[in-house]
Amino acid sequence: MVPGYTEETVLEVHHWTDKLFTLKTTRSPSFRFANGQFCMMGLVVAGKPLVRAYSLASANHEETLEFFSIKVPNGPLTSRLQHIAVGETILVGKRATGTLTIGNLRPGRTLWLLATGTGLAPFLSVVKDPETYERFERVVITHTCRRAQDLAYARYLEHELAADELLGEIVRPKLRYYPSVTREAFKTEGRITALIESGRIFADLALPALDPAHDRLMLCGSSEMLADTAALLESRGFEEGNSGEPGDYLVEKAFAGEKR
Ligand code: A2P
Repeated sequence: MVPGYTEETVLEVHHWTDKLFTLKTTRSPSFRFANGQFCMMGLVVAGKPLVRAYSLASANHEETLEFFSIKVPNGPLTSRLQHIAVGETILVGKRATGTLTIGNLRPGRTLWLLATGTGLAPFLSVVKDPETYERFERVVITHTCRRAQDLAYARYLEHELAADELLGEIVRPKLRYYPSVTREAFKTEGRITALIESGRIFADLALPALDPAHDRLMLCGSSEMLADTAALLESRGFEEGNSGEPGDYLVEKAFAGEKR
């Protein structure tokens, strides 16, 4: 046993591409978290814990845990973790933390979850939370990646979640999924910043342009994406929130293993 961690058994491994994979594991009954938070996760290597911050992609009402990870060829953790098999164990930190929780947002009408790459992970948890739909009239989840094949969870967000036996009814009328791709041809091309600036995303979704009076946002992606998107929001009068002081938008760097 490693102090501060529980050992969880891998139940499923799904490889989306040669660079992206998802793990599902058991969950200790004592592990508590708020949807949108992250925790430490990893392996015992040479007798010591080798862990990184990972957003929880599962919701807190689910019995299993889910992690969405990149594979870094020479990454100390992910070069090993990508080979993990069903039945093997991982370490999960006992404490979850993070700012991307709906409680850190002021009340509003539309919740925008803006993700690039593995920054999608915390939002998978947020869109499975019934409370998200109690707090907001509409929820838009955007995912921007270099290539269409990197749009992991596209089928889930477009079809499966809305068809879910328990959540479908509350999700269907409120959730919109808006994928975009930057480095190959796709139905929606461009960075999220460009799609907001040009107004294309609002035209495509038939929604009004961002307004601090009604819109609330969570951002999760690379440092550059966060800086550019936050600057765009600040220029439109949005105020950042954090734990302790709710705001119009929240920011968190994508936690999904290691840097490329
Ligand atoms: P781009 O292909 O134009 O760099 P990455 O794989 O590097 O994490 O990038 C994931 C997605 O985030 C890519 O589509 C990338 O677009 C986009 N991206 C990178 N930097 C920014 C930024 N500063 N603002 C908005 N989107 C960005």
